[in-house]
Amino acid sequence: MDINLLSWLSTSLSPLSRLALPGAVAAGVAVGIASHAAAADSAATMKAVRIHDYGDASKLVFEDAPKPSPAKGEMLVKVQAAGVNPVDWKIRSGLFRGGLDFTMPATLGFDIAGEVAEVGEGVKKFEKGDKVFAYLALNRGGGYAEYAIVKENEAAAMPKELDFVKAAATPLTALTAWQCLFDVAKLDKGQTALVHAGAGGVGHFAVQLAKWKGAKVIATASAGNIEFVKSLGADEVVDYKSVRFEDVVKDVDVVLDTVGDDTTNRSAAVLRRGGILVSIAGDPDPAKFAERGVRVATHLVEPNGEQLARIAKLIESGGVKPHVSQQLPLKDAAKAHQQSESGRTRGKIVLVVG
Ligand SMILES: NC(=O)c1ccc[n+]([C@@H]2O[C@H](COP(=O)([O-])OP(=O)(O)OC[C@H]3O[C@@H](n4cnc5c(N)ncnc54)[C@H](OP(=O)(O)O)[C@@H]3O)[C@@H](O)[C@H]2O)c1
Repeated sequence: MDINLLSWLSTSLSPLSRLALPGAVAAGVAVGIASHAAAADSAATMKAVRIHDYGDASKLVFEDAPKPSPAKGEMLVKVQAAGVNPVDWKIRSGLFRGGLDFTMPATLGFDIAGEVAEVGEGVKKFEKGDKVFAYLALNRGGGYAEYAIVKENEAAAMPKELDFVKAAATPLTALTAWQCLFDVAKLDKGQTALVHAGAGGVGHFAVQLAKWKGAKVIATASAGNIEFVKSLGADEVVDYKSVRFEDVVKDVDVVLDTVGDDTTNRSAAVLRRGGILVSIAGDPDPAKFAERGVRVATHLVEPNGEQLARIAKLIESGGVKPHVSQQLPLKDAAKAHQQSESGRTRGKIVLVVG
């Protein structure tokens, strides 16, 4: 993680953008960021949704783009479906400008599922024709296209019997939940976790993963999502619009904060001493946590093909299920972004490419 960039993020971004990704773009990226792998054959084109400038959803253009070519350790994947995440529209609208700068025109999209069309030198785990899914690093993207470059270590074999749409709904958010709960917070069997926004992209995986681990799971959701979140395995669901969650939740071991704003600091009150809050969307005030004897961390999801393979096994065994509430053709990416920007998505939105 680049310290200068972190410091830039904390001082230069608007509150809205800081809410986006703590530490964020962090992994990204200290250096200039290319929007695409270079095309080997400039005559070869594909359909893609690109932006030529930052701005609102109308900046997303469905058009011809150069077909990329895989370098060493990379694969060219024929994309069948691309997941949509809040980070997509946050980058599109320019919230990360100055820290995560794309060369224009840029192809967004960080979650893909598809078939390997070509392997670059040195790729050992996959071969042409394999069905894979992947979270593409934030400094590359390229998922909103007929073909995308996937690094070997970002990909995993798609869970058997999962369709491309559900597979594309999985990588970024499932990895976020996995890394926050297990790598950072070390959630264990018998502990209690509070998952904020249990109905959202990250939250709906976090509820299922925490339950699979053997934890007691409490989640927040609005009234219309309570039954949905219970169906994912939550033991209790707090309607955050009618109750202050800190009035009814106490002594939890782990909080996963996917909401930000005042939810982040208010959550200090629900932790037992020694407990930990992991935020992916907020700007925690360390003093508020220290004074209660609890810990706080922020996390930026990293691509990880091995963890994704473990998640794939869990999906195959029925332990975890991606939920897709909306699927749209690639050319309707703008509608998908508008839906994501509403902040009301249940589970995931996916663009159908193939
Ligand atoms: N740092 C990272 O690595 C990382 C990774 C992934 C995501 N993120 C960020 O984390 C945030 C969440 O991502 P996501 O993909 O889960 O978003 P999302 O799918 O768009 O989340 C939508 C859900 O949030 C719920 N919600 C909204 N306000 C809420 C509140 N105050 N309390 C409880 N639930 C609330 C909504 O449920 P109701 O309709 O029931 O309110 C809706 O189901 C975004 O800001 C995203 O950019 C960061």
